[in-house]
Amino acid sequence: MTLPLVIDTDPGIDDALALILAARAPEARLLAVSVSYGNTTLDRATRNARLALARANCQVPVFPGSDRPLARPLVTAKETHGSEGFGDLDTPPPEPVAPTGTSILDALRAAGEPVTLVTLGPLTNLALALRNDPAFLRSRVVRHVAMGGNIAAAGNSGGLAEFNVWCDPEAAAEVLAAEMGTELVGLDVTRRLVITAPGVERLANHPDPEAQWFGRLLSFYVRFHHHFEGLPGAVINDPLAVALALRPRWGRAETLRLTVNCAQGAGRGETTVGLPSDPPVRVYRDVDIAPVHALLLQHLFGAWLTVSDFRP
Ligand code: RIB
Ligand code: CA
Repeated sequence: MTLPLVIDTDPGIDDALALILAARAPEARLLAVSVSYGNTTLDRATRNARLALARANCQVPVFPGSDRPLARPLVTAKETHGSEGFGDLDTPPPEPVAPTGTSILDALRAAGEPVTLVTLGPLTNLALALRNDPAFLRSRVVRHVAMGGNIAAAGNSGGLAEFNVWCDPEAAAEVLAAEMGTELVGLDVTRRLVITAPGVERLANHPDPEAQWFGRLLSFYVRFHHHFEGLPGAVINDPLAVALALRPRWGRAETLRLTVNCAQGAGRGETTVGLPSDPPVRVYRDVDIAPVHALLLQHLFGAWLTVSDFRP
């Protein structure tokens, strides 16, 4: 049995790993991709999505979506993913893209069947899909897995928040309020998926050009994590959302009633356990990381790295 997937993404270094993983894993059937601003601008993210899919020889349709949050100014993560959103990789100039509010709806139509929707960036595209055609969206999304949020883990944006939710808290609040059965793969579990600095250096210095591609993609990310968090490696969030979409039993989730903080300043984007009236959300609180390492070695790094290149 293969899992039909549509992925909404803001590539982004870890998004690229997630897209290639989804394109290569035989248990997944990636049918379409929609793109969001977030780690970089929409035009760069659209180019980067196409580059990542080409790396996996995957010819699925790509649909550019939102170029900014619902109601806030655009802020991208140049310091985390680089000026082009792809670390140290050389990229061609981005083609101009026309932003749309229907990218996820277009991707679902292209998919042609009910799917699992995996969102790896801000939730703006999904909030707009819910606004524009909720009936069609709900008829085609049988399950929603989102990389986003955090409960107990340290935040990565504005102090306690997680970047995807921090980018567009209003969109995140609208998506959770829709009670689609969203499963949050947040920093509480993604901080367990760390590729080490020596492993990335081995990729960058390997004679195989494919290894060098991953090395140049990830080296910038390792420098960011070392500088801002003192981490001897990089947290690769998005591949874990794909892994748990494929193998939910590798994680342990609980249902929490969550509030998204839509403040302008301090607290922006924090996801906290709220009131009984808040929407119920499945939140992954723990993960068996060993099978995830094995999956990433099998489909991404196994020709050059071993399990010792991940933090245990
Ligand atoms: O907080 C991490 C998330 O924000 C990841 O999806 C990363 O790619 C960025 O989008
Ligand atoms: Ca992302």
